[in-house]
Amino acid sequence: MVSGNGTGRMVIDMALYNDKVMEYFMNPHNVGEIENPDGKGTYGSPVCGDMMQITISVDDNDVITDAKFKTFGCGSAIASSSMATDMIIGMKVEDALELSNQKIIDELGGLPAVKIHCSVLAEHAIKAAIYDYAQKHGKTYKGLEGFDPNEEEDHHHDVEDEDEE
Ligand code: FES
Repeated sequence: MVSGNGTGRMVIDMALYNDKVMEYFMNPHNVGEIENPDGKGTYGSPVCGDMMQITISVDDNDVITDAKFKTFGCGSAIASSSMATDMIIGMKVEDALELSNQKIIDELGGLPAVKIHCSVLAEHAIKAAIYDYAQKHGKTYKGLEGFDPNEEEDHHHDVEDEDEE
C-alpha cells in the first residue's frame, strides 16, 4: 500500500522505480486517441479500478501501424502502456496478441511487485482493441480464442469485498 504523509497526499518512493520506468513515465510515448481507429479497447482493473483505453490502426497486411493509449492509471500504468504501444507498432496483429504483461515488464527492466497489476491494463486493453478490430473486419486470431473483453481476468479479492457475495 501507499502511505499518507499527513497532508492528504500520497507518498511514493521513487527509488522503487528504475530509470527506464521513470523515463517512460515522465516522457510517455503514444499518449492520446487515434481518430477513426481500426480497433478500440478499454479495460478496467479489478485490482485498483483504474481504466485504460487503447486505439490501434492496422494496415492491409495486418500490421499495426499506430497505437495510442489514454489512462486513469498510475505512473506504472503509464510507463507500461507507453512501452507496450511502442512494442506493438510495426508488429503483425497475431504477434501483438502474444504480448504479455511480463514481456512489457521485462522490457521496462522490472516493476515493483505491488505494481505488476498495472501492466496488465496495457496487455488486456491491447487484446480488447484487437478483438474490436477482428469483430469489425470479420477476422479470427488464435490468440483471441476464449478472450472476452468484458471478462475480468484478475480476481483479487484481497481487499474488503463484503459487498460482493
Ligand atoms: Fe491502478 Fe496502477 S494502481 S493502474
